[in-house]
Amino acid sequence: MDSHEISTHDAEADARNESLLIYVNGELVPKAEAKISVYDSGFMLGDGMWEGLRLYDGEWAFFDEHMDRLFNSLKSISIDIGMGPEDVRNILDQTAAANDMVSDAHCRLMITRGRKAKPFQHPGLSRYGPTIVAIVEHSKPAEGLQSRGIQLATVPQVRGLPTSQDPKFNSHSKLNCVIACLQAEQAGADEGLMLDPHGFVNTTNACNFFIVRRDEVWTSTGDYCMNGVTRAKVIELCRQNGIPVFERNFSLYEAYGADEAFLTGTFGAQTPVASIDGKTIGAEGGAGPVTRRIRELYKELVTETVARQRSVRGQKT
Ligand SMILES: Cc1ncc(COP(=O)(O)O)c(C=O)c1O
Repeated sequence: MDSHEISTHDAEADARNESLLIYVNGELVPKAEAKISVYDSGFMLGDGMWEGLRLYDGEWAFFDEHMDRLFNSLKSISIDIGMGPEDVRNILDQTAAANDMVSDAHCRLMITRGRKAKPFQHPGLSRYGPTIVAIVEHSKPAEGLQSRGIQLATVPQVRGLPTSQDPKFNSHSKLNCVIACLQAEQAGADEGLMLDPHGFVNTTNACNFFIVRRDEVWTSTGDYCMNGVTRAKVIELCRQNGIPVFERNFSLYEAYGADEAFLTGTFGAQTPVASIDGKTIGAEGGAGPVTRRIRELYKELVTETVARQRSVRGQKT
């Protein structure tokens, strides 16, 4: 595989993903037949929100946190799906069950403003209710990424101000991020390292970004990046385990000189960064003792959280 074909979302090949059942507006449909209208607001305008969730031992990890973000985003853009988080959980559970999945599965839940009466922008033309799709794939992050690490290139595309399109929106339109990814690829890297409007290091096109310097963990202030669930958990874990952690402005100067760097996201948990702009990070090419410790702590947290979620749900039923 060429380096530019590697991404933080590489999964082990799994033939079962060719014959999935996909949830589309109340029905479970074979993958080849899972379709939405060409008039759909998501297709036409990128007018929708999505969430990526992972299934561990029959539970959607950090489900409440994902639903908080999703429903907050939907409210912000005035999409009312007429259902609450528990209904969404039923959709996801139903889809996972139909595909015989208990663990190692990743869901892309997509909600758009729905089909439009005419092919124009006005939200009022989306008259038929939201479109809800859940794709759940068998998914094991490619192990090679942990040893190889990811190569980043700083890109001209920046994370914007909340007054243009709030970077906290997990919106269907990911064009800002796609452009950043293309720029990184053109520079021979795997993923783009994006700066904020002031030139401070912010995030990558698909994950949140952390560096480790002299045993301290640094990440951006959070003002211009996705409010990643994994990002928040890593910060929480550092605080609980005596690892100094700072949300602060820093520049490429500190990123290039970091001892370790890693990305966070629901899919890959923590992925080491091997290089930035061709400069090797740290002695071990990104991964190092602090990243490894955080990865272990995160694994334990997922196991504990999933067990707690299951027991709370058991008590309710
Ligand atoms: C731009 C961007 N940053 C970060 C993340 C990671 O967020 P999370 O940890 O909630 O998966 C995502 C994933 O949706 C993303 O699209």
